[in-house]
Amino acid sequence: MTLPHPLVVGASPLSDDLDGVRRLEDAGAAAIVLRSLFEEQITREQLAEYMNLDFPGESFAEAISYFPSPNAFALGPVQYLDHLRRVKEAVRIPVIASLNGATPGGWIEYARLMAHAGADALELNLYRIATDPDTTSADIERQAIETVRAVKQSVTIPVAVKLSPFYAAFANLARELDRAGADGLVLFNRFYQPDIDPVELAATRALHLSDSSELRLRLHWMAILSGRVRASLAVTGGVHTALDVVKATMTGAHVTQMVSALLRHGAGYLRTVLDDLAVWMEKYEWDSLATMRGNMSLFKVPDPDAYERANYMLMLQGWRA
Ligand SMILES: Cc1cc2nc3c(=O)[nH]c(=O)nc-3n(C[C@H](O)[C@H](O)[C@H](O)COP(=O)(O)O)c2cc1C
Repeated sequence: MTLPHPLVVGASPLSDDLDGVRRLEDAGAAAIVLRSLFEEQITREQLAEYMNLDFPGESFAEAISYFPSPNAFALGPVQYLDHLRRVKEAVRIPVIASLNGATPGGWIEYARLMAHAGADALELNLYRIATDPDTTSADIERQAIETVRAVKQSVTIPVAVKLSPFYAAFANLARELDRAGADGLVLFNRFYQPDIDPVELAATRALHLSDSSELRLRLHWMAILSGRVRASLAVTGGVHTALDVVKATMTGAHVTQMVSALLRHGAGYLRTVLDDLAVWMEKYEWDSLATMRGNMSLFKVPDPDAYERANYMLMLQGWRA
């Protein structure tokens, strides 16, 4: 997939209504990722159909009390496909559907349905927290790779894989996903930790928007992976300014996704970032993003592991009161 520039709208409610989607296109978005459809939503619906239940949501919500009821989701599985078709009709820029799940299974059927509904590409979000002490890193990674393979086998459109940073050997997993056919790697999911209310003895959830400080983790891994995988690389998390886009590109990003900044400042802010980017590039005499892409990667560093240790020690020694 060829894009005119790297600014893509990340998976979020920003694309929930057609006016919003048109505003993002008018502001210059290169592509839009729709919010996710979740494995659990699809599995529940498929199970309900199988058991021929009239009101699947209520029955299954009782069975798993902490699982969100179907009406907690903005779009159900069937509505999702309708919405995708309507968004495709509303804009000319590429529309990327998002499938969110981490274990191979029947829900992957939706990849094909999304492609059939007109998705130009898929983003497969593998968000998962491994809590079972009997489950090994190898188990988790094998399932992730199998999931990617299964999705790739069911569609011909490009598939990007959105990942969390919490893997012991992330570079190896990235390479294996690349080998399994991932066309893009999207780094990284944010880790949404609930707080606790010590009086009510309850978990409390509040989604805080990001700021540019979250970019560093992404820059770090972009720099490590750039030049080492065939898949395109996308940053999600902490892209707020033109300078953030420059930094991400220099560490190797082909795409920089934005969500928090656009939720905070509105769709038109995307145009501001694009304009600022052009001004910055002119000032520092860069004629294209392609020429700066990866010029700050660790690919050519002879011993990246030693470089990482050195970086760590220098950081600690560099602190002054
Ligand atoms: C309100 C909201 C809803 C989101 N919904 C999804 C989603 O459905 N699927 C997904 O993969 N990411 C979702 N995200 C995560 C974003 O796509 C993005 O990865 C994250 O916000 C980090 O980017 P940012 O720093 O530009 O906000 C959502 C984020 C927000 C703030």
